[in-house]
Amino acid sequence: MSIFSRLVVATTSAGPVEKLVTRTRPGVALAHRFVAGETLDEAVAVASELNDGGMRVSLDLLGEEVHDAASARGARDEYLACLDRIATESLDANISVKLTQLGLSIDESLAIESIGHLADRAEEVATTVTIDMEDSRYTDATVRIYEKVQADRGNLGLALQAYMRRTPDDLQRLVGLGGHIRLCKGAYVEPEEVALTSKADVDDAYADQLRTLMAAAATAPAVATHDQKLIDLTRELAKSRDEYFEFQMLYGVRSSLQAELVRAGYPLRVYLPFGSQWYPYLTRRLAERPANAWFFARAALGR
Ligand code: FDA
Repeated sequence: MSIFSRLVVATTSAGPVEKLVTRTRPGVALAHRFVAGETLDEAVAVASELNDGGMRVSLDLLGEEVHDAASARGARDEYLACLDRIATESLDANISVKLTQLGLSIDESLAIESIGHLADRAEEVATTVTIDMEDSRYTDATVRIYEKVQADRGNLGLALQAYMRRTPDDLQRLVGLGGHIRLCKGAYVEPEEVALTSKADVDDAYADQLRTLMAAAATAPAVATHDQKLIDLTRELAKSRDEYFEFQMLYGVRSSLQAELVRAGYPLRVYLPFGSQWYPYLTRRLAERPANAWFFARAALGR
């Protein structure tokens, strides 16, 4: 992550900045670019439009770092409602879940029970569950839980972050487990001991891991990047792959590229966040792209 990105994360983590963003019109307008809305109804409407445009969807109920069991169970129930709507509206969609939202930082067994429950319901409605990867405090537990629950259920996927030094080892092991692996670069500020910090090194690591993933027959690759070079490399590697793979991109990011890939016949899934807890998600999107932060700063200052 660049110095600029670290600065954006440090600035946006301050309470007054959060208030400025969440309570002013420019902040809310910026959030609308990346978030479907605050309610499940709004998310379903956007998902349905994306499906009409030939795009698959992953619904992400925003929220992380839940600190009490009741809130963790509440998030699980909202995800169950989400799966019901996927079924009743015949959406081409799955769900993306953060384990800290299901109580990982309070009680690991609570998160395991809930992710199993969601996998069972997803199976009934013929879809899958992807576990998002959070910051490095949770990597070990997230990989461990994925391995356990995926071995039992079989309809899960896991996000792996190319910047993590441990990912090549995790990837070698996990590609034998079926399911799907979403390869992303990694969106958190991490210490050098656990993660690569230069953009060039992260891009090279992503390319290496992409080659491993695209060669794995048992696991479906989900290539989660907006990086043109890596997309071109994927298209090249796809020529010698018969099994399914898909591109994945974030709602509101490089939408014309998303449409172009669909027109070219590639399966593409849009990661579609919704809910009232959008602030931490928005700060990660600002940190990735300086222009987003400048846009907000100028609008907030009325220029
Ligand atoms: P890179 O940052 O190099 O961007 C390439 C180009 O894409 C930029 O030049 C720009 O044009 C465009 N772009 C990228 N981000 C943008 C933005 N925010 N606004 C506007 N344009 C932008 N991370 C994580 O740690 N855990 C996870 O579980 C996930 N899950 C996930 C799912 C999906 C579907 C995607 C696409 C990404 C994630 N991520 C994630 C985020 C990921 O780790 C990474 O931070 C972002 O995707 C940005 O990296 P790129 O690969 O797009 O490359």
